[in-house]
Formats: sequence, structure tokens, C-alpha cells
Amino acid sequence: MSSYTLMIAPSLLAADFTRLGDQIREAADAGAGWFHIDVMDGRFVPNITMGPFIVEAVRRATDNPLDVHLMMFEPERYVQAFANAGATTISVHYEASPNLHRTLQLIREAGCRAGVAINPHTPANALEAILSMIDVINVMTVNPGFGGQTFMSEMMPKVAQLRALTLDRHQHIDIEVDGGINPETIPAAIQAGANVLIIGTAIFSHPGGITTAMHELSQYLDEAVTD
Ligand code: DX5
Ligand code: ZN
Repeated sequence: MSSYTLMIAPSLLAADFTRLGDQIREAADAGAGWFHIDVMDGRFVPNITMGPFIVEAVRRATDNPLDVHLMMFEPERYVQAFANAGATTISVHYEASPNLHRTLQLIREAGCRAGVAINPHTPANALEAILSMIDVINVMTVNPGFGGQTFMSEMMPKVAQLRALTLDRHQHIDIEVDGGINPETIPAAIQAGANVLIIGTAIFSHPGGITTAMHELSQYLDEAVTD
């Protein structure tokens, strides 16, 4: 695990959108890594959220990498728009991409890192045959569509399986966990081999504010690594 950068990726879905720029800067100053942006189309998932226009605004608020999570059908139609808006990584869902290999190619050609997100029912070995096309894997630890849901610990063996696979193949792939990550669930996620912790509610709805949340969560990260 030592060659992987362990980081917190704040999920902007839980941010206060009337103060988005300030909240992004506060989280960045408190040590945030990537900013995670949840794009939902109202079809693949029940919810509708944001599009390239917001990504472009976030791009102007920070120099940190932007991790765009597309929860939509036919994501290939929008790859170029999100790349133009300033995405660093674009992740598409395995379940929404019948021509996944081609879509990942398209993402890399657009100058972005290629990510695949897998829903709770999708097994780790679904990605084995196209691993060389993948830079980031998002293991969903809730059903996609909403923030503030409960972490599914039964996804951890999948994270461990994927980490073992990437190490076996000597491939540098970031493994994200997405949904329900907080001080209680961080240790299991890190022990399984995740290195990017996507966190919404536990940062932006923390009663002590964003900076306090980030500092507390970073401490749990350090402890989980030294354990
Ligand atoms: C769920 C999203 C997550 C979500 C995480 O569909 O992919 O990124 O915002 O938020 P919390 O930390 O609140 O579970
Ligand atoms: Zn997400």
C-alpha cells in the first residue's frame, strides 16, 4: 500500500451550494485531495444533480484534481463535455456501459484518467479483462443515487480482491470507496486496500464545520495506517 496516496476526496453532493466556492477552499486548505462530483441523470439513478456547468465552476474554485462520477446511461455522449469542463478523472458505471472498453478509451483520449464505478451487485472480477484500461476503480459502498446512506461493510472483500489484482498485475490503480464513509468505517476501508475515501455527509454536515471534520477524519486515516 505504501506506493498509494491515501486521501480524502470530499463529495460535493453534501456541500452547501449557496457557498460552494468557500466550502471547496476550506476543505482544500484542510488537506482535501480530489474533489468528487456526483453527476446523476434521473434514469440510471432516481436523482438529478449537476452537469458540466458545475464542474467548470468547481474548476475555477480549486487547483485540486476533480473526480467526476457519472451515474448516467450512455456516459460516452458526455465524456468530451466533462473533459472540457476540467475533469481530471471521469468514472462511468460498469452497469451503464455496454461498450465499456471503448468508453474508457474515449476518456483517456480526452486527456482524463479513466475510472469505472461498480454497484454493490457487481463482482470484482467483472473488471479483470479490461484492467489495463482502468486508472481508478470506485467500489460503491451504498446504492448510488443519494448521499447520507449507510456503509455496506460486505463490499470490503471486493475491495481486497481488487487491490490484490492490481498488485498482482503491477498496475497503479486508485481504489475508491464511495458512500457512508466516516470515522467508524474508515479503518475497514483502508484495511481492505482502498486509498481514496470519498466523503460527503461526514464533512459537510459535521456540526463542528468542514475544517474540524477534515482534521478529525485525517486523524482516523493516520491511525488506520499505523494500526
Ligand atoms: C452516492 C454518491 C456518493 C455520495 C457520498 O451516489 O456517489 O459520492 O455523495 O456521500 P456520503 O458520504 O454522504 O455517503
Ligand atoms: Zn460518488
